[in-house]
Amino acid sequence: MPIDPQVSLVAGPLFAEAAEAAAGGSEGQASGRDIAADVVAVPVRPGPDGPTVAAGAAEVAERIESAKVLAHAGMHGDPGEVTGVPLVTEDGVIQLLFVGLGDGTPHSLRRAGAALARGARGRSAVATTIATGLDGEGLSTFVEGLLLASYTFSCASRPKNRNPAGAVALVVDDPAAGSAALARAETTARAVAFARDLVNTPSAEKSPDWLAEQAVAAAEGAGITAVVRGEAELRAEGFGGILAVGMGSARPPRFVELSYPGAADDPSRPHVVLVGKGITFDSGGLSLKPGDNMKLMKTDMAGGAAVIAVMGTLRDLGIRARVTGLVAAAENLPSGSAQRPGDVITQYGGRTVEVLNTDAEGRLVLADALAYADRVLEPDAVVDLATLTGAARVALGTTHAPLYANDDGLAEELTRAGTEGGDRLWRMPLAHEYRDALDSEVADLANISRKDYGAGSVVAALFLAEFAGRRPWAHLDIAGAARASSDEHEITKGGTGFGVRLLLRWLAAFPRS
Ligand code: BES
Ligand code: MN
Ligand code: ZN
Repeated sequence: MPIDPQVSLVAGPLFAEAAEAAAGGSEGQASGRDIAADVVAVPVRPGPDGPTVAAGAAEVAERIESAKVLAHAGMHGDPGEVTGVPLVTEDGVIQLLFVGLGDGTPHSLRRAGAALARGARGRSAVATTIATGLDGEGLSTFVEGLLLASYTFSCASRPKNRNPAGAVALVVDDPAAGSAALARAETTARAVAFARDLVNTPSAEKSPDWLAEQAVAAAEGAGITAVVRGEAELRAEGFGGILAVGMGSARPPRFVELSYPGAADDPSRPHVVLVGKGITFDSGGLSLKPGDNMKLMKTDMAGGAAVIAVMGTLRDLGIRARVTGLVAAAENLPSGSAQRPGDVITQYGGRTVEVLNTDAEGRLVLADALAYADRVLEPDAVVDLATLTGAARVALGTTHAPLYANDDGLAEELTRAGTEGGDRLWRMPLAHEYRDALDSEVADLANISRKDYGAGSVVAALFLAEFAGRRPWAHLDIAGAARASSDEHEITKGGTGFGVRLLLRWLAAFPRS
């Protein structure tokens, strides 16, 4: 799968006429660049005496007095800031972009990459010195920001001037040295874009079976075995939660199991299980959602999308851990065959749940998957991702996702991977004081709180904890973070692909000694 724009590493020079001059008529061979850029971008850093051009300053100075331009534009050099000026060259008019680089931390580099992507939309070719002098980590972070902000949903039609730039040439000292970092960034960005595509696909197309097919297709050619359980298998093996949630829809549920062997020659390699909520549409079921709350519920499989996208990328990134990805896919609809409030269901493994609200469906499908992981897969760590509660969004909005964990080490690793990778987490308590809210008189557990504690995201996590067992387990409630209402930095409006960068980064380092 290609990803836009096409990024290459070149030795320079920055400006096309200079490139042509260097080529000296020798068929463009010696220039190191064969594209004539219609955008040239240089980095700007803040400083005590005002902002300065950080790389490519000399080439810019030959053509324009950048200090005056920056002062006129009121630019500081903060990450994400962009100032564009038309520049007349021998070949015509190009756009010269000054892009704020801030302090050069990964966070700033990601934003600078995103700012360049947005400033260059609708153009055909960009040449830039922003990546000059960066190490591998910096380069890949910058490119990730650039590629993620360039994302457009493949099915969406948009005006041509919103298309991502066609090609970006990064001027660096040693193009060969950066190629691995560039490839890593492209692989990660492609995985995030795939997760966003899955989330952005309308539910009319996105049935549980469709989602399972996407998972199988992603597994093919990625060194992964895929097993998809349909209704008959789910019934035979006792996946009562997935079946109950799915039975209101004419499009039956699926349970997807993706297995990646990891470094098979290393028997001591750890086994990680990733679990994703895959509700392809959440109407609430008979406990129907009011209209405004329902219209974005095609997003309710974002956890599953992240798991599928991560699994398809493990081999490309050389992940050594053994990883199993589980996606519990169902469509939550009201109908004559739907489950009713007050029904008692039997989850995988035999525990019973009183379904007091059919809109608390995510925990029912996840409970099956978590119990299956605990009882059958014997993992060393389990991480689930789910758009589980509106309360998570009330608590933290969209910048951070609530993290719950029964293991401090796992919580720390995930938080660090998230901060470094750009998917930020905030740890919340599994406050045991609230556990009795889930007591039921007719079953082992109720699926919603029967007390007035509030803390909806915490109570949902406590429900899941009952099924995760005693293994190191973490739960990410991505109800807020999975969808963005506007473009901002590397995030694009719609599905965000939250969790993909975090999990890939965490798995690459797992286990930490
Ligand atoms: N999918 C929703 C949670 C959600 C809400 C995700 C808003 C994204 C944005 C989930 O299935 C749900 O409906 N949760 C209920 C639980 C309640 C009935 C205990 C909620 O949060 O209202
Ligand atoms: Mn719901
Ligand atoms: Zn839901």
